[in-house]
Amino acid sequence: MMMIICFIFLLLATPIASQTTNGQTRVLYEAFDPPSLNTSIWNYGYPWGSYYNHRANTTPRQAKITQDGFLNITATRERSISLGLQTEFGPIDLDFTSGAVNTNGKLCIKNGFVDISLRAAETPSTWPSVFLVPEDQGTVPMLTIMEVFDSRSRYSYGFKYTNDQGEVQEENGIADERQTSDGIHRYGLDWGYDQITWYYDNKWVSTITKSNELRQVGNMCLVIALGVGGKSKGTAVDPKAYPSIMSIDLLEVWQPKYDGFYKFQNVQTGLLMEIDSALHDWGTRVLQWEDNGGDWQKWHVQYAGHGQYRLIAAHSRLGLDADAWGVSDGTKLLQWSYHSGNNQLWKIQIVDDSSSDVVVQLINIFTLTNSDVGKMISVPADDTSPGVQLHLWHDLNSDLQKWRMIRL
Ligand SMILES: *[C@@H]1O[C@H](CO)[C@@H](O)[C@H](O)[C@H]1NC(C)=O
Ligand SMILES: *[C@@H]1O[C@H](CO)[C@@H](O)[C@H](O)[C@H]1NC(C)=O
Repeated sequence: MMMIICFIFLLLATPIASQTTNGQTRVLYEAFDPPSLNTSIWNYGYPWGSYYNHRANTTPRQAKITQDGFLNITATRERSISLGLQTEFGPIDLDFTSGAVNTNGKLCIKNGFVDISLRAAETPSTWPSVFLVPEDQGTVPMLTIMEVFDSRSRYSYGFKYTNDQGEVQEENGIADERQTSDGIHRYGLDWGYDQITWYYDNKWVSTITKSNELRQVGNMCLVIALGVGGKSKGTAVDPKAYPSIMSIDLLEVWQPKYDGFYKFQNVQTGLLMEIDSALHDWGTRVLQWEDNGGDWQKWHVQYAGHGQYRLIAAHSRLGLDADAWGVSDGTKLLQWSYHSGNNQLWKIQIVDDSSSDVVVQLINIFTLTNSDVGKMISVPADDTSPGVQLHLWHDLNSDLQKWRMIRL
């Protein structure tokens, strides 16, 4: 196993190419239908007030639902307030008026997937952005879905958090050669306990694994804003380019289907997936055994991100692990220190959800990305007795590969 650990860091970021809502349920479909903004979802402005670190004050009249079902946010040059305001982008007066909307206190989620379709404002001195901030708090941690400054043919995304020294740190990326104001484009953000993934027009852009930092992320609320200046302060303001409009077409919010403690009962044998002898050691075998109520037969199922789940043994807090990153039929299952590697991440594929205990297959992510076929947690067909170690096997459409997820 020591040799294997060296490889882990190379393998962590193996991307699955396209956007996935597998394992998630849609909790919001917002098409911004007329006549007016739905105030059971939205507030006007920022969660903390009407302005942020740019030159526009925001008012409700600048964020309007149009007849054809867009939320149009318009930045206009007009002197509204002169504060001599200091921001992180320098001293500025609020000599523009624009709009922002947020879901603080109305629709905030701990993890899941946000997918927004919009057209950014054309004017290069504007600063369109969509981001998530903690409910009723400040701006850290922050998950930026997209922001456009200066050039309209790329956008930026990122994660702001507090590091071990208590300092605010940002991890940002630039998605080059992505048009933002020539028409409607889709921007996606998916996050779980381990990973954050960004998408553009339904295609994967980037994934970062930040298990420790994501512990700071609680309930997050959406902000959509059209700033002026701010990060676009490098572009001179051309008054003739205003008013300038950002149009939001559609917003979908998805949440993980599973989060909590479960027992996994094999459909054919009726036995539970458990850790051998309630041991706490790395490498202990994962077996099937009769239900005895032990915590070593209970699994903490948590959304890792990107359609993937981790399964943590309740008694040991070790992760369900495919031995030595194996991808072949017969690869043994054991518990190991959780490191968010793809050999410890699982796709939960629903086979039957007609009763309250859903029946699923548990597919190993590393086999999905590194062999031609995803391998699933299986009871060996040649020995189905209590105490037999579970292993990975390709799909045989057998009940030995199906598990009843019993919520605790
Ligand atoms: C506003 O949003 C709520 C919550 O999603 C929804 O139940 C309601 O139908 C919406 N109202 C309108 C007028 O669309
Ligand atoms: C909404 O914004 C779009 C530009 O994205 C513009 O073409 C359209 O005219 C605007 N609609 C209204 C009613 O202002």
